[in-house]
Amino acid sequence: MFAKMIFSSLLTISALAGSAFAAPFNPQTQSLDRRYISFNNWHGLSSLSGFDNFYGSDNFSGEISTQVVEQETEVVCHSLSVEIIQQKLLVLQEMAKQIITEQICDVETQTIVFQQYISASSHFTSDIMHTSGISAGYDSSIVSHYSGLYNSDGSLSTSDLGISGSDVGKSVIVPTGTNWNSATSPSSVQAAYTAAQSAISGN
Ligand SMILES: *[C@@H]1O[C@H](CO)[C@@H](O)[C@H](O)[C@H]1NC(C)=O
Repeated sequence: MFAKMIFSSLLTISALAGSAFAAPFNPQTQSLDRRYISFNNWHGLSSLSGFDNFYGSDNFSGEISTQVVEQETEVVCHSLSVEIIQQKLLVLQEMAKQIITEQICDVETQTIVFQQYISASSHFTSDIMHTSGISAGYDSSIVSHYSGLYNSDGSLSTSDLGISGSDVGKSVIVPTGTNWNSATSPSSVQAAYTAAQSAISGN
């Protein structure tokens, strides 16, 4: 009994460690066998009307499998102080919170929309680490809509930006100039990922 308990808690620990430290999900080598729940009007919430249209049904996290890279535009990375990078990302983080809390009133919809945002963003991990088959870059035509988020008086706009989740990946810029080395970087980015995950979980 005691031995069995130890064994099952070891299993739990290794399962947790497995999810924290495993390489990001790779759609080319793994499959996700789960049942999709439609979120259109989920639990009768009209604020979720049309939710599934954005990425298409059965596609909650909008993972892209193909991308169109704009070959004619060459962009080279130029490093900037990490604190300035952290400042910029903090602004984006708080803007997401502003949109979710000021423009969604149903807490269930706030919950589902924020989970979709995190999940859709998280695929970028395996792009950076070169394990997804998708190059690490950004969709320049989506980025160009940033000025449509606010009105000139600084309040959040209510305008339809005319874009959909299915537009992402159609005009991708892949900046060059990173220190990626195909011999050494697979293990060094894995070590970086593991260190960051340990910092997150506090071990
Ligand atoms: C999911 O959405 C993304 C983004 O729109 C798209 O690239 C991908 O093809 C979609 N996947 C499926 C299975 O529909």
